[in-house]
Amino acid sequence: MLKNKQKPNSSILQIRSLNMFMDSSRNSIIANLAIFSLLFAGLLYICLWSTPSSTLLISSLHHSNNKCRTSEFRNIKFPIDELEMVLEKAATPNKTVVIAVVNKAYVEQGINSETTMFDLFIESFWVGEETRPLIKHLLVVAADQTAYERCMFKRLNCYKLTTDGVDFGREALYMSPAFIKMMWRRTLLLLDVLKHGYNFIFTDTDVMWLRNPFPRLSKNGTDDLQISTDVFFGNNIDDGKQLINTGFYFMRSNNKTIALLDKWYGMKDNSTGKKEQDVLLDLLRGGFFKQLGLQTLFLDTQYFSGFCQDSKDVRAVVTVHANCCRSIKAKVQDLSAVLRDWKRFKAVAAAEKSKLSAIARTFQWTGHFGCWNSWGPSNNTN
Ligand SMILES: *[C@@H]1O[C@H](CO)[C@@H](O)[C@H](O)[C@H]1NC(C)=O
Ligand SMILES: *[C@@H]1O[C@H](CO)[C@@H](O)[C@H](O)[C@H]1NC(C)=O
Ligand SMILES: *[C@@H]1O[C@H](CO)[C@@H](O)[C@H](O)[C@H]1NC(C)=O
Ligand SMILES: *[C@@H]1O[C@H](CO)[C@@H](O)[C@H](O)[C@H]1NC(C)=O
Repeated sequence: MLKNKQKPNSSILQIRSLNMFMDSSRNSIIANLAIFSLLFAGLLYICLWSTPSSTLLISSLHHSNNKCRTSEFRNIKFPIDELEMVLEKAATPNKTVVIAVVNKAYVEQGINSETTMFDLFIESFWVGEETRPLIKHLLVVAADQTAYERCMFKRLNCYKLTTDGVDFGREALYMSPAFIKMMWRRTLLLLDVLKHGYNFIFTDTDVMWLRNPFPRLSKNGTDDLQISTDVFFGNNIDDGKQLINTGFYFMRSNNKTIALLDKWYGMKDNSTGKKEQDVLLDLLRGGFFKQLGLQTLFLDTQYFSGFCQDSKDVRAVVTVHANCCRSIKAKVQDLSAVLRDWKRFKAVAAAEKSKLSAIARTFQWTGHFGCWNSWGPSNNTN
């Protein structure tokens, strides 16, 4: 910068060199802040230099002469915050990201277990159909340091959630206070994502991605929310009976969805003992969606399935969610079986392509024994 002995007009050059510097240290917020201050100081310097009678800094910036318009700041695009940075990196060209939240309990392997929920989740992108390219668009939100390190180790897009001193690391058993608190924290994050202008698919990590969901989701920009269901009754619009499941949903970023998440999150302290999914269901049943003019589609379990209701067609299934289940151990056991079933189906189907419909007709998912038993009295812990 100092080598540049030219007149003030060379500010472009200086900015460009700063940009290069900036690119090489994108990963560090602190570095970015430092650069920002440098840049700011630089511009200030230029301003002062180019205003002969610059006695007041403030006035030279505010009532700036033509050299120091704020548009100069706007033309330089730099990441505003860390979330913006990771979103920009992970998003598809149409500004959509896939978001999953993980904590220590999802990434740490017990001595006697062969895998983890997180590993199964990532594995599903590998064995799924046309799901491999989607891993680039997955943003893993880590609720604690262990989860963050595991994510970085796997070289995924990782973002660390800051929390108010709560340790989300232990297994948050279904409906325990820690479980509920974590759910709310993620709702706040998703609101933040919408406010940044990004659409998202939110997915729980106990959802296996067997096929690329985008072809099965509506591309109509007027559909604001597309959400999975525990049980699908044959109607994909709001008939007052939908059993929504927040384990998988697609939201477009617009003022309606932002208003919805704002309202939803705003109810966290007024909903003691309820999990956020039930609060959202209350909002739906109470007519708040209609009030917003929010266009919602409810996803068919034929495609977006779960243990509450299996997909009846393995040729169509897109996701399998370990819902209606109570512990991580049981989920890992039963989702391992799902991936086994899937791989077996793919192998048989590849070997006998002409018999695909017969193979699909006789296909059956292995029973979800771990999850069915997880509700028993002796299974209150993992
Ligand atoms: C966004 O782009 C992806 C490809 O990058 C495409 O598969 C998907 O359908 C698009 N989503 C929407 C909602 O238009
Ligand atoms: C999108 O949905 C709206 C309302 O359901 C409909 O009027 C419109 O024709 C649809 N647009 C496209 C491109 O399908
Ligand atoms: C969203 O914006 C549109 C127009 O920009 C406006 O008509 C509508 O009332 C807004 N909705 C909400 C919920 O703010
Ligand atoms: C909280 O709940 C109480 C009682 O149900 C109700 O009167 C109040 O309006 C609610 N507050 C908000 C912010 O929804």
